Amino acid sequence: MAQVVDARLIVDGNSRELGIERSTIGNDGLAIPTLLNDTGLVTMDPGFMNTAACESSITYIDGDAGILKYRGYPIEQIAGGSNFLETAYLLIHGELPTEDQLNALSNRVGRHMHVHEGIKSFLNAFPRDAHPMAVLSGAISALSTFYPESVGRSEEQLELATVLLLAKSATVVAYLQRRATGGELIEPRPGGKYVDEFMRLAFSPASGELDIDPTVRKALDLLLMLHADHEQNCSTSTVRMVGSSQANIYAAVSAGIGALSGPLHGGANEAALKMFDNIKASGGSVEQFVSDVKNKVEGARLMGFGHRVYKSYDPRGAEVKKVADTVLADLGGNNETFDMAKRLEEIALSDEYFIERKLYPNVDFYTGLLYSAMGFPTPMFTPLFALGRMPGWIAHYREMMNDPRNKIGRPRQIYTGETDRTYVPIGERG
Ligand code: CMC
Repeated sequence: MAQVVDARLIVDGNSRELGIERSTIGNDGLAIPTLLNDTGLVTMDPGFMNTAACESSITYIDGDAGILKYRGYPIEQIAGGSNFLETAYLLIHGELPTEDQLNALSNRVGRHMHVHEGIKSFLNAFPRDAHPMAVLSGAISALSTFYPESVGRSEEQLELATVLLLAKSATVVAYLQRRATGGELIEPRPGGKYVDEFMRLAFSPASGELDIDPTVRKALDLLLMLHADHEQNCSTSTVRMVGSSQANIYAAVSAGIGALSGPLHGGANEAALKMFDNIKASGGSVEQFVSDVKNKVEGARLMGFGHRVYKSYDPRGAEVKKVADTVLADLGGNNETFDMAKRLEEIALSDEYFIERKLYPNVDFYTGLLYSAMGFPTPMFTPLFALGRMPGWIAHYREMMNDPRNKIGRPRQIYTGETDRTYVPIGERG
């Protein structure tokens, strides 16, 4: 797209020049900081389809070309060469770590994986069948009460909170997995590698050592990296909104987890697997399901398809599909469902309804099949997404705290209610 050099707004015949905020790549923005003052008008943009709420230098997406970059590095290179903690460091600090820096982070996170006894009691107080996203959101919010020294907006406090969030969220998610599968909680061991230790906490048998399957370890590490950030998505925007009031990072991330739980966002991985199961239970006709989706039959939506930004194949989805092919073959996962999912994708991608609307598989279409093959029950899928997204939420919160232009998030509205009524006491109402 040619660069815009001049933008004007004409209101009631009066023309005003609008400023343009320049990006390094991607969309520039129309700057309207004094619009209300100058014109008495606000903008209306439901779902923020066209609104940039901040500048950010963490993640770049080109939705038409299917490009995703973390701090300028293509996701395919990250997926092929990095690991989750290194990716977390990159997102949060802006540069790839040296070996010493990565070891220091890994050791520090490893040392902090134990959780306070109070957190364990807190987790145990929830019903065993409680949805783990609700418990996770509560547990992350509660961390601020157990680790008050990390609550605050100084660099030191945010650095400590970063380590605690990465470390303790892994332990909490692993404990949620143990509770979901009926196991007792076991103690973290300092010095382990992040993904290995998470798997040990989640899957170790009651006695004896877990024999970590390298295929599962690699796939899990990859899935965490692929979920690590996605610029101003719903949960990250929630983290920023809560953080804009100067609420602490735990409160902000806890709210982000609430946003992530919805089926249009991270909850889509759980919803997609349920959708596959429902199609099977109703006789397995993929064609019938696609027809119901197109006819907008109540409850029929192709979960794991479509995206606000991607109008082509989600590059994360492409990586997940590649790894699903090898991992499911290796682990002997649910290949029948995988085959059905692939057929569903093929039919949708050649159907006018999906072509016209540019609907492609997103990251959530195939992840459930992988998680399931690894031994996670369906309600654990979205907590795993949350664990992966933790570095992104942290990076955005910290970026915002260092942004001199940060202001409390406070949208306007177009009021459409009653304008002027006189209160009538209850006994006098007709
Ligand atoms: N199945 C069927 N139709 C769809 C779908 C879908 N998955 N997604 C969009 N459409 C249709 C929609 O009905 C609308 O059609 P029409 O113009 O006839 O009314 C058109 O496509 C535009 O959709 P939209 O809902 O206006 O698009 P949006 O940008 O507001 O929504 C979305 C994006 C991701 C919420 C949506 O595509 C969706 O509901 N997908 C299914 C849920 C899902 O997989 N979410 C995960 C997103 S990726 C990971 C993440 O962010 O967590």
